[in-house]
Amino acid sequence: MGKNKLSRFAENATFDHVVQPSFAELQAAELPLRGKWNSGFFKRDAPLVLELGCGGGEYTVGLAQLRPGKNYIGVDIKGARIWRGARTAHERGLANVGFLRTHVDHILRCFGKHEVDEIWLTFSDPQIGKARKRLTSPLFLARYKEILKPGGIIHLKTDSPLLYEYTLEQIAEHKLRTEESSADVYAELMPRISPEEQAVMNIRTYYERLWLEEGRTIHYVRFGW
Ligand SMILES: C[S@@+](CC[C@H](N)C(=O)[O-])C[C@H]1O[C@@H](n2cnc3c(N)ncnc32)[C@H](O)[C@@H]1O
Repeated sequence: MGKNKLSRFAENATFDHVVQPSFAELQAAELPLRGKWNSGFFKRDAPLVLELGCGGGEYTVGLAQLRPGKNYIGVDIKGARIWRGARTAHERGLANVGFLRTHVDHILRCFGKHEVDEIWLTFSDPQIGKARKRLTSPLFLARYKEILKPGGIIHLKTDSPLLYEYTLEQIAEHKLRTEESSADVYAELMPRISPEEQAVMNIRTYYERLWLEEGRTIHYVRFGW
């Protein structure tokens, strides 16, 4: 393993705002913070927002700055990527940001029933040929329904037409409510939304920057039950 990665892992271990349960711990029992993220971790009651597969946590940190009245948790399996977001949140003194290093398959062991207000899925792997593994598959939607409050919402921002179309199909099949949908964020959505919403859509993740440089179109859909 590279020296850089090791030093990032070491720094993660010193951060109070990074939670890293071992696989064995989560196999044996649910996370002690499950159902208690606001009282036990953030020490304040506020809407709880997750970014799943957060990578460097650009949405987690960016939203936390734009909307300080909410609590944000970035979830990713890769410690070196989480470190990027955790380091930035630390440098910017953001008390409303946390990171959880775990596999997304474990979310029901980490978040309680109706504990979450919003979920962001940012440039998730489209899992070509493996629909079951997509983060908007029926399996994941059922998990989100469990942890989201009634009226809670899911945001998907993606460069993948496959994942975007698949998600629209799932929304229709599950008779979910679409709040917003655009096949082209920058050409079609931006001109018709408020400056506050534009600021949210203008947050660029690491992968989004890569795809924009390649000239890809960005898609967005916001939906819930
Ligand atoms: C394509 S990257 C997108 C990262 C970031 N959201 C961005 O836009 O830059 C997908 C991310 O999902 C994470 N990931 C993939 N499978 C995962 C899993 N099963 N559990 C948690 N994170 C996972 C990867 O580590 C990676 O950071």
